[in-house]
Amino acid sequence: MSGMRGSLGVHALALAACIGLDVPVLAQDNSGLVAGKDAWARASCFDCHGSMAQGGSGGDYPVGPSLRNITFGKETMVGIVSCGIPGTPMPAWLKGAYTKVECYGMPLGSTPAGMTVPAILTADEIKALVDYVFATFVQAPRP
Ligand code: HEC
Repeated sequence: MSGMRGSLGVHALALAACIGLDVPVLAQDNSGLVAGKDAWARASCFDCHGSMAQGGSGGDYPVGPSLRNITFGKETMVGIVSCGIPGTPMPAWLKGAYTKVECYGMPLGSTPAGMTVPAILTADEIKALVDYVFATFVQAPRP
């Protein structure tokens, strides 16, 4: 599923190129958002937060809250996505989180009990992902 989502976006751009739209400008302006969308898909954020970040509906996955009305800023969200939220099902996505990169001031090497640490995204990918979520889903006034 996540693979399909990612490639759909790429195909849309390729199609736009074929029909002669102003793709170079489009691709340049949106390249960060494309990378962010790819990271959103690869991490399967939608499994828990819903395909439109409207909040998960449960089933096979823990219910993640809607991200559409968050009131914190991008920097805070980068921290949450990087290190997860200890004591909850929200995983830590940053490569090296808790082992090579300090999270919440904890000593390196110890992962909070019960925490899932997929650690599959780089810092740049998380930044792009947060830009994508803010540009696409967040409805609340930007701080
Ligand atoms: C396994 C399920 C799961 C996955 C996958 C997941 N999350 Fe979460 N996420 C949660 C849960 C559950 C919470 C709420 C934690 C709590 O109780 O505070 C949460 C909280 C958050 C919050 C804080 C929301 C708030 O209002 O405080 C953000 C931001 C967030 N997730 C973003 C993401 C992003 C981006 C991804 C993909 C990289 C992702 N999550 C993947 C389960 C998940």
